[in-house]
Amino acid sequence: MMIFVTGGAGYIGSHTCVELLNAGMDVTVFDNFSNSQAEALERVKSITGKQLRSVEGDIRDGVALKKALADSGATSVIHFAGLKAVGESEVDPLRYYDNNVVGTMRLLESMRELNIKQLVFSSSATVYGVPQFLPYTEKHPLSATNTYGQTKLAVENMLRDVYRSDASWRLAILRYFNPVGAHPTGLIGEDPQGVPNNLMPYVAQVAVGRREFLNVWGNDYPTPDGTGVRDYIHVVDLAAGHVKAVQFLERNAGCNAINLGAGVGHSVLDLVHAFESASGKPVPVKVGPRRSGDLDAYWADPSLARDLLGWSAERGMEAMCLDTWKWQQSNPNGYKGGI
Ligand code: NAD
Ligand code: UD1
Repeated sequence: MMIFVTGGAGYIGSHTCVELLNAGMDVTVFDNFSNSQAEALERVKSITGKQLRSVEGDIRDGVALKKALADSGATSVIHFAGLKAVGESEVDPLRYYDNNVVGTMRLLESMRELNIKQLVFSSSATVYGVPQFLPYTEKHPLSATNTYGQTKLAVENMLRDVYRSDASWRLAILRYFNPVGAHPTGLIGEDPQGVPNNLMPYVAQVAVGRREFLNVWGNDYPTPDGTGVRDYIHVVDLAAGHVKAVQFLERNAGCNAINLGAGVGHSVLDLVHAFESASGKPVPVKVGPRRSGDLDAYWADPSLARDLLGWSAERGMEAMCLDTWKWQQSNPNGYKGGI
């Protein structure tokens, strides 16, 4: 079975390509490399010992996209391609709507024209907005507090409308919690450009000596140690969830939103301490003010993923930190530095 993977060279996409290939599926990646390196795909090949096809292109270019999709012979699509920096989305919202919403429209149009109606979409826990209850279940009301979140919500709504108009579509909307970690080989991982916004890559860069200390954004939240609490999910578990979602869509029509989280909350300081023991390196911290737009605490109810997909997270915080550390040590400057 051929799977067409938009954004397959990126952080979550590359790990998912490994799991798809290991599950015996064939893969065509479609990526414009705006936030990734082709080298990631070479490493996917060396981890799996298998080939994959890769086409360079932009999902907003409907002609190129449709041709690549038709040429691939795919029957199913996983759609990772998108921009994901919350701060940047507030500064340049039109770029985010264009890339994430218009890009997804082009993809759905191409799919409809080619009669390929099976799609897994990368959504985010950010669509739940301020928690009205915890853990978040898929029935939690939806809202967005920033432009990035609005684009995810807009695409989710578009998918629900498409399904209402034609029930032969098979759509899985996966709402990721906080993906972290790297492949245990240390060959692929998250390669943020510039100063990382997210916690785990920042902590890893402090441990490796690239940055002096971690700014902890607030320690006066109503949480056990005062720092923000999130549901961290190992990227290899997340990738495995995509294989399960593709297999689920093979068996079931419908449009389902499904949480992919571990179901456990960890604070910023929990993660820092876990990283210190995994790496054996100190991670100095300085407490700063709260980061604007941050929520106190949230985590997933992952039971729907267990019931529908037969998936649950297997790797804990120790593996998340050990694998991040292995990737960081072997690639202190990311893919550009070579191995
Ligand atoms: P990433 O930036 O590493 O990967 C995205 C990939 O899409 C990159 O390879 C990029 O080059 C490609 N891309 C972007 N715009 C494109 C376009 N117009 N045409 C073709 N390719 C394009 O991000 P990621 O962390 O792997 O995230 C993948 C998806 O999951 C994104 O949609 C993101 O919004 C979503 N998501 C990520 C997180 C997270 O924390 N990483 C959390 C929730 C949801
Ligand atoms: C952020 C995005 C979210 C996106 C997710 C994954 C915001 C408001 N939310 O989530 O939409 O889906 O990334 O890409 O940006 N922290 C520090 N110091 C740091 C970095 C983070 O203390 O240098 C803290 C944060 O305050 C938070 C926790 O660490 O409590 C996790 O932060 P982060 O990794 O950025 O993820 P989110 O904010 O949960």
